[in-house]
Amino acid sequence: MPEIIIDDIPVQFTGKANIIELAKSVGVDIPHFCYHPALSVSGNCRMCMVEVGMPAKEKDGSLSKDENGKVKISFMPKLQPSCYQDPTDGMVIRTKTEKVIQTRKHIMEFLLANHPLDCPICDQAGECVLQDYSFQYGFSKSQFLDQKRTFKKTLFSDVITPELNRCIHCDRCSRFTKEIAHDYSFTRTWRGNKTELSALPGEKITHNYQGNMVDICPVGALTLTDFRFKSRVWFLKHSEGLCTSCGKGCNVVYSIDKQNKVLRIKPRFNAAVNSYWMCDYGRLRYKFFNENRKIAHTSSGTEIDLNTAIEKAATMIKSSTRIAAIASANETLESMQALKDFAENILKTENIDYRVHSSQIENNTDIKTGEVLLANDPYPNSQGAKKSGLSGSVTALDILKNPLQADLLLAVLDDKFVENPDLMEALGKFDKIILFSPFVTVHDHRAVVTFAIPSLIEQSGILVNINGMEQKFQKIITPAGEAVLVPDIINRLTLKISGKMAAGTGA
Ligand code: SF4
Ligand code: SF4
Ligand code: FES
Repeated sequence: MPEIIIDDIPVQFTGKANIIELAKSVGVDIPHFCYHPALSVSGNCRMCMVEVGMPAKEKDGSLSKDENGKVKISFMPKLQPSCYQDPTDGMVIRTKTEKVIQTRKHIMEFLLANHPLDCPICDQAGECVLQDYSFQYGFSKSQFLDQKRTFKKTLFSDVITPELNRCIHCDRCSRFTKEIAHDYSFTRTWRGNKTELSALPGEKITHNYQGNMVDICPVGALTLTDFRFKSRVWFLKHSEGLCTSCGKGCNVVYSIDKQNKVLRIKPRFNAAVNSYWMCDYGRLRYKFFNENRKIAHTSSGTEIDLNTAIEKAATMIKSSTRIAAIASANETLESMQALKDFAENILKTENIDYRVHSSQIENNTDIKTGEVLLANDPYPNSQGAKKSGLSGSVTALDILKNPLQADLLLAVLDDKFVENPDLMEALGKFDKIILFSPFVTVHDHRAVVTFAIPSLIEQSGILVNINGMEQKFQKIITPAGEAVLVPDIINRLTLKISGKMAAGTGA
């Protein structure tokens, strides 16, 4: 296998490899701005310069050796950009020599010539590589005596607020636009000192992946309008999770403030699901986690404790003969399996289903036309619901259309159900309802019981994405108020109605 030496550490590689990544794999950090592993290499920031050498050869082609018999290395007279330089067998890379360190310092001085001293008011502070590298390689004084270059502010997006005076022209944003979002409305214009990132004159960028441009901008030149000035990032807790706004299941990081509110969602790398990206729809839809939350169980709109809620719901279930149930594809696999067993063994009904959206009925597992990630299925766990056997002979939509066929409806609600006026209106046609909901609903005042349940970031479990991939996730915040997990409520109901614990609880 071919091998290179990076700072005296041998690194083997296969196929087409990148020196920055090879160095990272052995714990050597090569500073860089324009290089991004998912984009084409542009080699324009020059921060990644390193010394590159190859074993020297004699005229006859044999290896040239010193008096100790060690192979001599012949270094190129000029430094090379490590993002651009292909590694070849026997190559020697030096990343920490005086020549390299001085070059990094001069590149920083060049990049900072026009960069404003904005850190105290910049949203990128705390996550800014320019700030980090400036700390490591910056000069304490600037030799730049001229006026710094400034741009007229043009709002070219509803998602991004530009601060282009901070731009260091790494070109990541416009490469992302072309190569990943497949959109040609945003690019570099002009040349030299006047170079400016811009949308087409008089137009706005409209693609659904603009937040990623903010993520990959190494400085605060592109800020997310939604998050701008909301919080310093070091005041937030950052936890790994999954996006729940469609069936793709993008891996993300939730940023939570001290009041347990979600303030931001950013993508997290997963080669098999979303690479480094997420869509703006999923990124900006997080507010439902924070608003209109149901924090107490209620009966006819009056707050009650969990025991009373179980008592009331159990009495109603026992006195009903034609029970229907609607599951939510926004619940975990564990919750769905508990509901399925409950319907079979306690409710004694086959009238249970989760399909309230056309894509679920057609089992459509495609990405939406024109999208990179966003799936047709707006639910994060339709495949899990299918796998749990929650598809009945009629769909949940059909159940909702025939209120007279059931004398009691149990429904697990979610953000999409509560936001959908048609579904909520259909629910209003049922006389007797028992609801499980993370949100306050317009039907709580007349429901036999509405159980408060946690949202998906307030519990741990498994979601199955549109490609059938099971993804585990962990609880990020404690459930709001009195909220109780659906399987726990079902266990208590089962015990109350049958005197036995639900199957699978080990009792
Ligand atoms: S706006 Fe940001 S990502 Fe785009 S070129 Fe400037 S520094 Fe790079
Ligand atoms: S594609 Fe789907 S899962 Fe991914 S970020 Fe968008 S809405 Fe969320
Ligand atoms: S990272 Fe290599 S030139 Fe920018």
